[in-house]
Amino acid sequence: AANQMWGGRFAEGPSAIMREINASIPFDKALWRQDIRASKAHVAMLGAQGIVSAADVETITDGLDKVAAEYEVSGVPENWDLEDIHMVTEDRLTQLIGAAAGRLHTARSRNDQVATDFKLWVRDALDQTDAGLALLQKALVTRAGEHADSIMPGFTHLQTAQPVTLGHHLMAYYEMFRRDRSRLMDARARMNECPLGSAALAGTGFPIDRNATCDALDFAKPTDNSLDAVSDRDFALDYLQAASQCALHLSRLAEELVLWASQPFGFVRLPDTLSTGSSIMPQKKNPDAAELVRGHAGRVTGCLMSLMMTMKGLPLAYSKDMQDDKPPVFEAHGLLALSIAATEGMIAGATFRTDRMRSAAEQGYATATDLADWLVREGDIPFREAHHITGAAVKLAESRGIALDALTIEDLKAIDARIDERVYKALSVDSSVAARASHGGTAPAQVRMRVADARRVLGME
Ligand code: ARG
Repeated sequence: AANQMWGGRFAEGPSAIMREINASIPFDKALWRQDIRASKAHVAMLGAQGIVSAADVETITDGLDKVAAEYEVSGVPENWDLEDIHMVTEDRLTQLIGAAAGRLHTARSRNDQVATDFKLWVRDALDQTDAGLALLQKALVTRAGEHADSIMPGFTHLQTAQPVTLGHHLMAYYEMFRRDRSRLMDARARMNECPLGSAALAGTGFPIDRNATCDALDFAKPTDNSLDAVSDRDFALDYLQAASQCALHLSRLAEELVLWASQPFGFVRLPDTLSTGSSIMPQKKNPDAAELVRGHAGRVTGCLMSLMMTMKGLPLAYSKDMQDDKPPVFEAHGLLALSIAATEGMIAGATFRTDRMRSAAEQGYATATDLADWLVREGDIPFREAHHITGAAVKLAESRGIALDALTIEDLKAIDARIDERVYKALSVDSSVAARASHGGTAPAQVRMRVADARRVLGME
């Protein structure tokens, strides 16, 4: 049989393959709340403009509320013949209220309808992600405040470089998530234009009021070009880009947790509730949540690639390829939300083994730069020369298998006569971090200031 929505010009209905490849209802039913909301705004505007009678507006609006109530209780029925959420909803509305339902689609196309629904969905997703990131930042800031003085090795090339504080390390991630949130807000502001009223591609001849639907749906302004409005998916790509960048940050943090939870590092014990065991090795406690956060980052980025590839060759305006926009966005959002929640749980529940961190910082000649800096300061030696002298001291200590501050003053004086007893103070990890009090440095006093700033920004006071 011909399709009931568009079958007028067809002699035969679609084949089973056509029905299957065409149906988006299995995934776009996730848009039902947005679809109902946008339809109510649209029909109210049609009424206010005298395009649809007040009685029909009321019937349609009540009907849409009934459909929504049904969806709420029983979910959205998946009828492939009706293709998508827009037609499934209109069909149910017709069953409930009869012919008046046919007036809802006046001055509208599924092209501006889907652009509007999807944008509303992405805008909500973006707000949820932002809220999740705020919680994660709070967890980081809380733990950073507890560990402003806890010393650990800082690494470059994953080789011990200089001592840092754990609070400083955690606050580095606070900064990354701060930028992620700002990217989300940029994307939100850019996408906040209402496509509804662009109709199929060219606008409409009906005397619609685009500002009315725009305001009802909380957009900042109506879009200015109907061709662009129905074929623009930048908003989804902006979200996926921000999501990918955020997932990348989560992945780096997850990698550090995996590394730190390993026996050779032993810097952290992850909460039991976010770890798993081995079915064969009884001693195992595996950081699976962290590994999956690391893994999910790849999938989120894959979703971004997927939509970029969908969009790259499409002529104006709408093409059905664009129906493939939703699965990657839905998938990426779900993966990201889980990753943020799991990371927040791991950070909030981690037991940091500060004794192990400190002793690791005391190995590996992490204060060699402090010796060189001391020579510059106290001996007025050019930094390059001081670097060389310090290198000789590290070489000697290494050959004896001892720490820098275990070298005797005679050993040090033999390397350079300008060294005296005062140098030992500079060689402790505590004085090393305390000295790095430049703005944004690792000194506990600096970390406390940054934590206080962050608490204010996050409204934690
Ligand atoms: N299900 C479609 C989508 O998600 C809705 C738009 C259909 N428009 C059309 N002209 N066939 O893209």
